[in-house]
Amino acid sequence: MSSDYLVIGAGVAGLSFALRAARHGSVTVLMKGNAYESNTAWAQGGIAAVLPDNLCFAGDSVESHVADTLDAGAGLCHEAAVRTIASEGATTIRDLMSYGVVFDKAGERFQLGKEGGHSYRRVLHTRDTTGLEVARALIETARNTPNITLLEHHFAIDLITTSKLGAVADDRVLGAYVLDARTNEVSVFRSDRVVLAAGGCGKVYLYTTNPDSATGDGVALAWRAGASIANMEFIQFHPTCFYNPSATGPEARSFLVSEAVRGEGGILINGKGEDFTKSSDPRGSLAPRDIVARAIDRELKRTGADCVYLDITHKPKGFMRERFPYIYENLLKYGLDSETQPIPVVPAAHYQCGGVVTDVKGRTGISGLYAIGEVACTGLHGANRLASNSLLEGNVMARLAMDDMLRRFAPGKQPPAPPAIPEWEPGNTAEPDELVVIYHNWDEIRRLMWDYVSIVRTDNRLRRAAARLRNLGKEVREFYWGHRVNADILELRNLVTAASLIVDCAVRRKESRGLHYTLDHPLTQERFCHDTVLRKF
Ligand code: SIN
Repeated sequence: MSSDYLVIGAGVAGLSFALRAARHGSVTVLMKGNAYESNTAWAQGGIAAVLPDNLCFAGDSVESHVADTLDAGAGLCHEAAVRTIASEGATTIRDLMSYGVVFDKAGERFQLGKEGGHSYRRVLHTRDTTGLEVARALIETARNTPNITLLEHHFAIDLITTSKLGAVADDRVLGAYVLDARTNEVSVFRSDRVVLAAGGCGKVYLYTTNPDSATGDGVALAWRAGASIANMEFIQFHPTCFYNPSATGPEARSFLVSEAVRGEGGILINGKGEDFTKSSDPRGSLAPRDIVARAIDRELKRTGADCVYLDITHKPKGFMRERFPYIYENLLKYGLDSETQPIPVVPAAHYQCGGVVTDVKGRTGISGLYAIGEVACTGLHGANRLASNSLLEGNVMARLAMDDMLRRFAPGKQPPAPPAIPEWEPGNTAEPDELVVIYHNWDEIRRLMWDYVSIVRTDNRLRRAAARLRNLGKEVREFYWGHRVNADILELRNLVTAASLIVDCAVRRKESRGLHYTLDHPLTQERFCHDTVLRKF
């Protein structure tokens, strides 16, 4: 298989890129599951975007969006990246609408929602299923675009680079080894322009709002290929995941109650009905997520309760049904009427703020390899992502990466012929027979990350996590090299890598900042006001 552009991942970033790239050459998009299994499709809240004056709230401005993003990012945002991305809000909305995305309107004007950390209402949405609407429009358009080949159930195992083939002088990407998860055949996919858009790693944690597919594949692929990784200690915990102890399926356990519910007046209360968040921040339930998630964690530890509650019952009857129909209906399915009963909630892993180091064009340190969307660390999020900035970032970075590629790697401007790429070598490896090993290790990683590396950390817990992950990494490597690959082994291999990268970053940050809070170093320190960058070579 060979194409001008190879895209790994099909959320807002991957598909926005593919649709642009298709104007200039052939595009292959790999998805390890089906097209709708992405964090994009699960996103509820919306897209933060400052619109022209006549369409936005008086007083709002790109400057204000920049200021809110910098404030949430706790000193680590790259201001140039923030400015570039925040200035592109209106262009992004136009771009998405050109593919058929329909945003909610009140008359001629867009309805704008509010979320934690935003000074103004500036979140465009489609009820409470914005991500699904974006995914629908992009997938349908991509399916009807002749230059795009969408391949579901195709799992990128490893990137192929010149340095991996022994040519160290100029490190550039040549494609990827890819498993067809339905036949278990592995093929070489050749391309000189590869875009990693494989999303985040929420499944590293026992409790997450992410779909099962979020196993850190992109960051692990890039790391093995030799790209630098940064700021993985900053994992965002969403404050309000539905607490549903009797739930069985992952979807029921990962059910998000959008921050937009708090934006419309929902208040977090404890079991006695007290609003406990105001003592942490005057913005209370609408403070940035790191602050709210920590306030909940403290309250749970203080009271010994299993959950806190999100109360929106003071709104007029019919409000939840009309503004948040997806959430309302789902909660009803679990026996809860959110118009009359407070919703039990707990924090859960939600977003990877760090990732593959890129500039504001999506370039990594490996020539021809770009990273965009959640997998990338552009500098937009710093130590804590501002709510609803990520769909915006995915679309903007897709455009900027495409523009850069056109300048540097236009089809026709061919790089030197690559060294011969060997076929995938399965060796004498056996069929995996001990699947219990995979499931056991998978559970162990997620539980240990939850217990030792979640909202509140300590040096001791991080040390224990690092030691255990070293052993798990060794076991997983032995399993990987000793057996024929399948999707389960590949996910486990990526999961342990992503978990180790989180811990390796966290142990280096001996302070508390943004989403990284440690009892041993509770203060923010000027000398740590920089990214945590991990380099493999
Ligand atoms: C939400 O709807 O609360 C999630 C929005 C986001 O994570 O940006």
